[in-house]
Amino acid sequence: MKLVIGSDHGGYALKEQIKKTLTCLGVEFSDCGVYDETSTDYPEIARRVCADIIGGKYDKGILLCGTGIGVSIVANRIKGIRAALCNDVFSAKMSREHNDANVLCVGGRVVGPGVADMIVQTWLESDFAGERHLRRVNMIDMQ
Ligand code: RB5
Repeated sequence: MKLVIGSDHGGYALKEQIKKTLTCLGVEFSDCGVYDETSTDYPEIARRVCADIIGGKYDKGILLCGTGIGVSIVANRIKGIRAALCNDVFSAKMSREHNDANVLCVGGRVVGPGVADMIVQTWLESDFAGERHLRRVNMIDMQ
């Protein structure tokens, strides 16, 4: 599984924390930026991460901004992206099992590092349940 991660300045600190966790978990990833806390526009980083997923370079992505809301709005406008804003562990699990989310969005100013680690680990370890959920997920791309 190839993973890409990106954030704006509001998610930068948590992105750096999550990168350490991914390394501990043995998950290979690429960091699309940003690389410091200089103010940036979240639509740019969200589009960069999603374009690489749609283009097949990566299978899944993690996006962070201050709330996770901005990056999730942008990501969900891109056909083929199912971005889930998960600031709790239950949502992270359900977003994989029921929605086959291929992008996890987290708010860097919303959750602390401990909860973020659990969200990311749960999201990566949870699988799509298929069956009735497959029919529903297929209906998304028919819009
Ligand atoms: C940046 O200040 C902030 O607006 C951004 O990180 C994000 O929370 C937007 O949804």
